[in-house]
Amino acid sequence: MAFIGVIGHPLKKSLSPVFQQAALDHLKVGHIYEAWATPPEGLQTRVTGLRAPTVIGANVTVPYKEMIVPMLDICDELVRKVGAVNTIVNDDGKLRGYNTDVEGSLRALREDGGFDASGKRIVIAGAGGAARALVVALIEAQAASVVVINRTLSRASKLVEDLLPLANGTDLKALPDIFTSWTAAAVGCDLLVNCTSVGSTGTGDEGDCPVPAEAIHSGALVYDIIYRPLETALMRTAKERGARVLGGLPMLIYQGAASFKLWTGREAPVDVMFDAAREVLAKEAD
Ligand code: ATR
Repeated sequence: MAFIGVIGHPLKKSLSPVFQQAALDHLKVGHIYEAWATPPEGLQTRVTGLRAPTVIGANVTVPYKEMIVPMLDICDELVRKVGAVNTIVNDDGKLRGYNTDVEGSLRALREDGGFDASGKRIVIAGAGGAARALVVALIEAQAASVVVINRTLSRASKLVEDLLPLANGTDLKALPDIFTSWTAAAVGCDLLVNCTSVGSTGTGDEGDCPVPAEAIHSGALVYDIIYRPLETALMRTAKERGARVLGGLPMLIYQGAASFKLWTGREAPVDVMFDAAREVLAKEAD
């Protein structure tokens, strides 16, 4: 028997064990996918344990995506660009790090949002790890411009400064989270993405919208990477204003599907993964 797991802290509500196990069972792969809740003082031991012959690999989630990078043996190009790992493969005792969030977000935009980022004007709310992966994805997809708007302007400025050398023709800019930033940047944009935690279940601001309604126009796709709840206040507001919307579940599933392929060499059954995740989210919402 061989094992895969998700490493994070705390891990109570991770959906990965649910939809990854459903996919493994569906294809009769025979591996077990576990939740490996790991406090900070146990991280090094956990990483050492990944080298065992019975371990296939792991996912990495909050708060370890960045700090785990130097503990691995080899990291791919995207990990260096994003500065974060979300997938580890145990290659005969050598740990290889990957970032499938980039591929997951682009697949979600393309397949579920019908959106090709090439040549497009994009505005992102937030400047944390999720925003960083998304900006790298949008540079990879040759977006025309990406404006990062964040409550803490210095964090948005740092993100832009770090990624500017990779920008390769994509115009990157940081703005403070004030009304005039939104009216200046978002009014004419093609895609508006929420990468903040505002509107997420359990944060205390579930009903809040991270973007002023006035900045949302009917020609934009509004993409909220939050998947709890499945429909956020931002998505409701965007619909009311005639915009198309995309929620966060597809990206969660597609990053997992890309990880699944790295571990097993097989195409992940994404429909099975979606069903398993939706079942849990629906139960939680009852
Ligand atoms: P992740 O790795 O999921 O991106 P993170 O690094 O903690 O998580 O980033 C969370 C993002 O949500 C940040 O951009 C944060 O803004 P700050 O950089 O100013 O902290 C943003 N965020 C969280 N709560 C917020 C709030 N109440 N209003 C506005 N932005 C908020």
